[in-house]
This record gives sequence, structure tokens and C-alpha cells, in this order.
Amino acid sequence: MCGIVAYTGHREAYPVIIKGLKRLEYRGYDSAGVALLNGEISIYKKKGKVADLEKFIEQNLPPYATIGIGHTRWATHGEPNDINAHPHLSSDQNLAIIHNGIIENYSSLKQDLIQHGHQFQSDTDTEVLVHFIEFIQKQENCNLEDAVRLALQRVVGAYAIVVLSKHAPRKLIAARKGSPLVIGVGNGEYFVASDATPIIEYTKKVIYLDDNEVAIIEDSTLKITNLNAVPKTPTIQKLDLELQAIEKGGFDHFMLKEIYEQPRSVADTMRGRINIHEGSLHMAGIIDYANRFMQADRIIIAACGTSWHAGLVGEYLIEELARIPVEVEYASEFRYRNPIIKANDILIAISQSGETADTLAAIEIAKQKGAFIFGICNVVGASIPRATHAGAYLHAGPEIGVASTKAFTAQITVLTMLALLLGYKKGVLAHSKYREYLVEMEQIPAKIEKILALNDRIKEIAYIFKDAQNFLYLGRGYNFPVALEGALKLKEISYIHAEGYPAAEMKHGPIALIDDQMPVVFIATADSSYEKIVSNIQEVKARKGRVIAIVSEGDTEIKRMAEFTIEIPQTLEPLVPLLSVVPLQLLAYHIAVMRGCNVDQPRNLAKSVTVE
Ligand code: G6P
Repeated sequence: MCGIVAYTGHREAYPVIIKGLKRLEYRGYDSAGVALLNGEISIYKKKGKVADLEKFIEQNLPPYATIGIGHTRWATHGEPNDINAHPHLSSDQNLAIIHNGIIENYSSLKQDLIQHGHQFQSDTDTEVLVHFIEFIQKQENCNLEDAVRLALQRVVGAYAIVVLSKHAPRKLIAARKGSPLVIGVGNGEYFVASDATPIIEYTKKVIYLDDNEVAIIEDSTLKITNLNAVPKTPTIQKLDLELQAIEKGGFDHFMLKEIYEQPRSVADTMRGRINIHEGSLHMAGIIDYANRFMQADRIIIAACGTSWHAGLVGEYLIEELARIPVEVEYASEFRYRNPIIKANDILIAISQSGETADTLAAIEIAKQKGAFIFGICNVVGASIPRATHAGAYLHAGPEIGVASTKAFTAQITVLTMLALLLGYKKGVLAHSKYREYLVEMEQIPAKIEKILALNDRIKEIAYIFKDAQNFLYLGRGYNFPVALEGALKLKEISYIHAEGYPAAEMKHGPIALIDDQMPVVFIATADSSYEKIVSNIQEVKARKGRVIAIVSEGDTEIKRMAEFTIEIPQTLEPLVPLLSVVPLQLLAYHIAVMRGCNVDQPRNLAKSVTVE
């Protein structure tokens, strides 16, 4: 969702900011803007892409400035247009602000300000906030940081903000609550951004702001305080991120690069955790809290989107391998449902970005009721890992494509290791079985590699179905969540309507849709439900549906029935999703490219969903 970048130092600010906005494009947005300060505040805003904004700014010859702020906006209050784009100005035009998040009490603040003569140009909550800061500064006759702190004490909601003032030309004020902000510390220069991607090429020294903290950056000094002006000592961390990890590296799209990275990312997720020689598995976040896990009556998994699908796979894994009851919840439903949570429950929050607002809220609710919270996240230092008692990082590297791919396989890898470790420690899994799984997991990266070699065949199938209007994805057991994920991938990036279903449920509804125009993707690997899914394929064929089947190498039966088959290597049944999802990612990718869609930044979607 919205992205923030700000700079102050000895360089020209505009090139740093515009490049930073391009790095933030992956988060999803629909307008962008920049404010530069050199005597006056000059503002440039445009609906559409950063490239449109860049063209517009360059036609208008921006002033030379060494301080400035930039923003990509994903519309919440007010439609995406030039006026609603950030930065927003105060009524005297002396302050400019960029903001991620939502000010929930903006309407009452706006009414008060209107009573005091303020007029608003936009429909946004953000413009209200900058007017409010101006109002307080004038009323209290205080400096900018005090005005920001006082205003934020009265704000309800979530925010990451950066404020610029014409009367404090060397100063940036940044603050956060519930929405991330990173400060890059250079040599006599500072960068502020909503994630580290705009900062990485300038410095690896960063400070992650905590909730309710305010950073005051002036010339080459940085001070951090809480909202009551009590100073805090900043902790500088070293970024473990290389520039090449956030560039396309010769691929046409980030999504394709990330699909192809999976042999390595899955191996990275296992690295240092699985030791084949010792036949052991080490996950500090579980071992350190082994008693909590051993005594758990129930595990609740809360997540959204693709991470929720990974959670469903986790349910199958943990119930089968560790015999602990699992419930998988959409975080957005769980948080508002007055759920029953007991102190012996464990909540596992799964999130690639570690910033999803609903997942964060689910964590807070479970925490208040005494549950133990375990996080499975990719982005190091994000809000969710900081809100949990323990957790496991994916180590999959940055995922830039909005449609999640390598994070999904990494999440399932972590969940598999977790289920195996718990099953073994509880005595549910015998050592020989446990070892067999570990040995097979080590083979997964090479098996994904074999599936990637089928790319050309998958591309041919994509070409045949690229103009379809609907798709059905069906699977059973471990392949049911994979069917959901395959359908989600296709609809996210190609805008084709696609539904995933448990194959047996087809006859309770989706079967009515099947005719000779309907592509049906069966994920029908050699497993315990093979014979059942063969019957489901017959049912589709009898209605002239067009069957594309993902099958195991050596399959003969389904090969005779399906119009197209894609053969993937055999593996142990609980590990199948790690393989069977890969051809579905490629199928969705190629169809979307052939339809001319913007694969990495699909319309209306965001990578990091920081609003509920
Ligand atoms: C957005 C993204 C999805 C992602 C979901 C959950 O919708 O576009 O790819 O699965 O959010 O995000 P999270 O970061 O919590 O995994």
C-alpha cells in the first residue's frame, strides 16, 4: 500500500526521492507526489504511475533542493486523483505532509477545523492532519516537533508520517503508529521510508521507528522521542539486504524472477534448520518455547490472502504430523468475531510483509486473552515479528511482485518443519518417519527445478486458454489449498474470474458452470485421494469441461482422460503443495503476460495491506 520516501542531506533530494518512489511501486498505489523545499515548498502530484509524475515534474523544472518528501498513494479516503494525492499542505501552505494509514477521527477533527475557518482542497484524512498540526502550532506557539507530538496525541488511527516546514528548512519530522517507518543513517544525510528498499543503495545503517515514536532530523542530527517528548536512544541496525535482491536481474518481471528463485528460497528457508547428517531439525523459536507448544490445546492460524492459503496447508500438516487441533481463520473475520481464545491456545500469525493490519489486530486480540503468539514472516523487523512472543522468519529474500509466490512455498516449508518438529517432540512421529521427511525435504529444491524446466510446455497451455473468461481449480486433501492458491494467482494478475474448490464440493454448485468452454484445472497427484479425484475428472469430462491436470510423474490413468497434463516429480504426500503450486504460478503468469496485464502491479492490489 502507500509508500513513503524522504531525504535530507548534501545530495539533491529529487533524484533520491523519485528513484525511491520507483522502488516502492511494488507496494501498490494509484497516484504519487513529491514536495521539495528550497525557500518555498514546491508540490507536484499526479494520478497514475510514478513515470507520469516524473515526466510532469521534469517538464516543470523542479527547484534544486536538498530536502524533500515523496509518496505513492493507495486510495482510501477519496478517489485516486491529482488533488487527493500526497503531499498535502497546511492552510497557510507552510507545512507539507505525507502519510500512510488512516486517521479514524478525521471527520470530527475536520468539523472543528472548519469551525476555525479552515478550508480543505481534498477528501483525505491526511489533509486534515496537516491542518491540525498547523492549528496546534499556532495555538500553542510551539516548534514543529511539539506541534506534531501534540496533534498525534489526539489522533485515533494508524499512521506513518513525515512533515516538512517552510520555516524549519533543515528539518524533517517523522512519526509512526501501526504503520512502518525506517530511517536510513548516511554520512551527514538521512533517508526516511516505509520500507528499506529506497534506502539500500545509499546506506545499510537503519533505525526502525517503534509505535508512538517521533524522529526529529535536523541537519546531521537525529533525535527520537515518544509522544510526550521523552528522549529515546535509537538502535542502529545493519540491513541484511543486497541491491540485486530488489532488482529484476534479467527477468521480464519480478514475479517470474521470484517463481524461478524458489529452489533457492526454499533451500534458504531450511538452511541451518535441517541437518540431514544428524537427522535433526533446529528451530529456536519452537525449541525455546517447547513447553507452550507441548501443552497447546489448539493452534489457531490467522492470516490473509496467500498467507491464509499457506495456513490451510499448515492445518493439514499440523493435524496429521503432530496431532494438534488447528483452526485457520481469516484475520479480518477473527478480529471482529469475539472469538473464544484460551490461555493454552497458540496463535500462529502468517504474513509475508509482516505489516497486514488485520493480522496485526488478530495478534493483539489473542495476546490480550493470554494466548502464545508465534509469527511466520518474511520481512525482518516488520510490525508482526515485533508483536509476537516467538517466531520463524522465512529467509526467502524480498518479494516484490504483488502476487505472492516464493513466500507461499517458504511459508509452507516453515509450517512443515514446525509440524515435523512438534510431531517428533510429542512422540507422534517415530524417528525413522521423521528422518524420512527430512531427507525428502532436502530433495524439494531440485524437484522444483525440474518443474521450472516445464516452463515452455506450461506456456503453450497458457496460450490455448488465455482468452477464457472463467477457470475452475479443483483439488483434494493437501491439494485443496493449492487449488485456492492457483485460482487466486490467476484472478489477481490476469483478471480472469477463477474459483478454487475442494474437488468433491464441485457437485454442490460449480458443476453447474461446466460446459465445453470451461477450463478446469485438477491438481491430481498420486496420493491417498487419487481414485476419488479420478472420479471428479470423469464428472467434468462427462459435461465436456476442458481438463488440465497436474499429475505425478509416471501417471497413466489421468493422462488418458485429460486434454493437457503437466507431470511433476513424486514426493511424500504432505510435501506435495511445495511442488504442485509451482506450475499453477507459471500458468497464471503466462496467461497474464499474454493478456497484456501488468503482472507485477495488478490493478487495485497492494503488496503490503496496512489498512483493514
Ligand atoms: C495482499 C497481497 C497478497 C498477500 C496478502 C497478505 O493482498 O497482495 O499477496 O497474500 O496481502 O499479505 P501478508 O503480507 O500478510 O502475507
